[in-house]
Amino acid sequence: MKYKNPIFVALDTSDLDQALAWAIAVRSLVGGVKVGLEFFSSNGAEGLKRIIDLGVPVFLDLKFHDIPNTVHRAVGEVVDLGVSIINVHASGGKAMMEAAVKSSKDKRHDPPLMAAVTVLTSLDENDLVMVGQATPVVGQVERLALLAKTCGLDGVVCSPNEISHLRKVCGDDFLLIVPGIRPRWSSSGDQKRVMTPKEAYSLGADILVIGRPITGAENPTSAVERIVEELNTI
Ligand code: C5P
Repeated sequence: MKYKNPIFVALDTSDLDQALAWAIAVRSLVGGVKVGLEFFSSNGAEGLKRIIDLGVPVFLDLKFHDIPNTVHRAVGEVVDLGVSIINVHASGGKAMMEAAVKSSKDKRHDPPLMAAVTVLTSLDENDLVMVGQATPVVGQVERLALLAKTCGLDGVVCSPNEISHLRKVCGDDFLLIVPGIRPRWSSSGDQKRVMTPKEAYSLGADILVIGRPITGAENPTSAVERIVEELNTI
C-alpha cells in the first residue's frame, strides 16, 4: 500500500472552506481524503483541484455508470485532475469497466487506483428483486467483484461484513475499500452494520473510509491520532 496509513477521511460537505479546513487538519496524519457527489456537484473540478493541491491523496467517489464511451471520457477528465482513486459501478458491465481502465491507463503512467461498487449497501434482497438483479446480495456482490477483477480493476468498495468473503474469493492483491467504520468511542449514526477500524483492518481491509467520527469530532486531528494509535496496536 503506497499510502501513509489506511485512513481516508470522507469530506462530506458541499462547503469548500469546510472541506479545506478538514483536509488541512488531517493531511499529515492520514492516507488520504474522499470527496463525493455532494462536494463535486457544488464545487466541481475547481474545488476538487483545491483539495488535491494540498498534497493529500484524493479518492474521488463519483461512482460512474453510463455507456462505455461516456465513462471513458469522464474518467479521462478526472484522471487529468490528479486524483489517486476513482470508482465506477460494476453493474455498468464489462465493456464499461474495461473502457474506464483503458482511459485511465492511457492518460497517466501512474494511473489512479480504480475500484468498483458492487451492490450499494443501502439495497437489500427485496430491492435487488425489484430491479431484476440476482439474489442473494452476497452472490451478486461476489459475481460483480470477480467481474471487476477480470476487467482489470484494482478492487472494490465493500461493507465491513463482506471483507472476509471477498478477501477469500478475490485474493490478497485485490483492494478492499471499506466504509461503515466506527471507533468504539463514536456514535454509529445512520450506519447499521459497523466495525471498528482495528477489526476491519485486521480482517483484511486496505482502505478505511471514515467520515463523521473524524469530521464531527470536536478536534478532528485528535480523532485521527486516536484511530492511528488503535491501528498501531495490531
Ligand atoms: O460519516 P461516515 O463514516 O458514515 O461516512 C462514510 C462515507 O462512506 C460516506 O461518504 C458515505 O457516503 C460512504 N459510503 C458508505 N457506505 C457505502 C458506500 C459509501 O457509507 N456502502
